[in-house]
Amino acid sequence: MSDVWTERAEAYRTSATHASGDDLDLLVSWAEGETALDVATGGGHVARRLRERGFRVVTADPAPGMGADTTCFAEDLPFADRAFDTVATRIAPHHFADVERAVAELARVAGRVVLVEDTLYTDERVEEAEKLRDPTHVRSYTEAEWRGFLEAAGLVVEEVAFFEKRHDLEDWLARTGCTGAEAGRVRELLAHVADGGHWTDTKILLRGRPR
Ligand SMILES: C[S@@+](CC[C@H](N)C(=O)[O-])C[C@H]1O[C@@H](n2cnc3c(N)ncnc32)[C@H](O)[C@@H]1O
Repeated sequence: MSDVWTERAEAYRTSATHASGDDLDLLVSWAEGETALDVATGGGHVARRLRERGFRVVTADPAPGMGADTTCFAEDLPFADRAFDTVATRIAPHHFADVERAVAELARVAGRVVLVEDTLYTDERVEEAEKLRDPTHVRSYTEAEWRGFLEAAGLVVEEVAFFEKRHDLEDWLARTGCTGAEAGRVRELLAHVADGGHWTDTKILLRGRPR
């Protein structure tokens, strides 16, 4: 899985969807304190924006090609309890093998606030399309599931926000190298959420605070 991500590293560094947006602005505005951990940093967009706000940031990602400060999985963070004021992860948990364990780890290493953003579950057709386009897609979750994960990790959910993201379908397919018959099937599966050459999903952003 990590090697797949290493091959995609440049595509995620330059991806317009990942580099900016109201979602990223709000996430960064919710960060607190002086130190932050960006888990599943990918192209490093959360870390970059937090550094611009003056945070001392450590990045973590299991894919060596992402060039993170620490090569590790979210499910097993090599940091002490409450090591960072802010712990964030953005548009990545749908790739985590064990999301509940990962959220427990985010909560464990956070001193003040945990910020989680991910793609919201739409329906099974979209799940099938996501997996076909990217075999590292595990699952997207509903708002109720997300609230449950944070609460089970001992976090109080203080705020929840939603953002619609409109994707250029061909760019989105190209980012994971999905072509030919598989790309055709993905287009079919997304027909109900597509308009022209675009499709739209929703991101959920949650702010959790350790009890
Ligand atoms: C879409 S990219 C992240 C985007 C980035 N956070 C941003 O805001 O632009 C997904 C990342 O999740 C990482 N990843 C996949 N499985 C993971 C896991 N179990 N733990 C931590 N990171 C993981 C991949 O290596 C990849 O860099």
